[in-house]
Amino acid sequence: MIRPIIAANWKMNKTVSESLDFVSRLMQLVIGMNDRQVVIAPPFTALYAVGAALKGSSIGLAAQNLSENKDGAYTGEVSARMLADAGCTHVIIGHSERRTIFGESNDVIRAKISMALQSGMQPIVCIGETIEERESGRTFDVIAKQIKEGLNQIETSDIKHIIIAYEPVWAIGAGKTATPEQAGEVHGFIRKLMEERYGEEPARRLPVLYGGSVNPDNIGKLMAQPDINGALVGGAGLNVDTFGKIISF
Ligand code: 13P
Repeated sequence: MIRPIIAANWKMNKTVSESLDFVSRLMQLVIGMNDRQVVIAPPFTALYAVGAALKGSSIGLAAQNLSENKDGAYTGEVSARMLADAGCTHVIIGHSERRTIFGESNDVIRAKISMALQSGMQPIVCIGETIEERESGRTFDVIAKQIKEGLNQIETSDIKHIIIAYEPVWAIGAGKTATPEQAGEVHGFIRKLMEERYGEEPARRLPVLYGGSVNPDNIGKLMAQPDINGALVGGAGLNVDTFGKIISF
């Protein structure tokens, strides 16, 4: 049985003080919740302060991106080592907004995963198809390509640190969620691919999160699917009361 992971991706929202207000409330809400892992992904500017506030708490801290390079002359970039030093335990990699707005390829994503692992952070690797890809019957091909090119070169010994988030692009910020059955079908497919590459036991232990318009009303049905092990929440993770309802699904 995989311990469910509920993560909030704040995207480009919240100042340092807004982040700290959220976290002080969230820390109260998670007291006694040992059967699930809660993770928050503030913007870069709030990571250090939030990391300091979270010291001793079970809440994970994720960055939303990192550089594929180790260090050096890369103006504006943030390295894995810097993020780990700021208190990050996790890092979101290959979010569809990074892929589409910033042109991140599967090759770049693979390099970023490697950097995160070297610095001891758990990558939350996002994959998912667009509406055109789904409607033309290419969902499974797209997912297979993203996994093959982005994830297949990870060492077997590292696979236990990986978290996958299936986020159908058409469900992100759309108020339109994949049905639990649609999501469950793709999650099952992802697990099968990972089993073919890494074997049964690592695939069985791999957390596969769902993301795309998750809210307090649909979280229960999504989590009832056998291959859904948690959620990556966007908009509904910005308000601590709403997020509190999601984490206590
Ligand atoms: P929404 O929950 O706002 O659809 O965003 C999902 C997402 O992109 C999380 O990474």
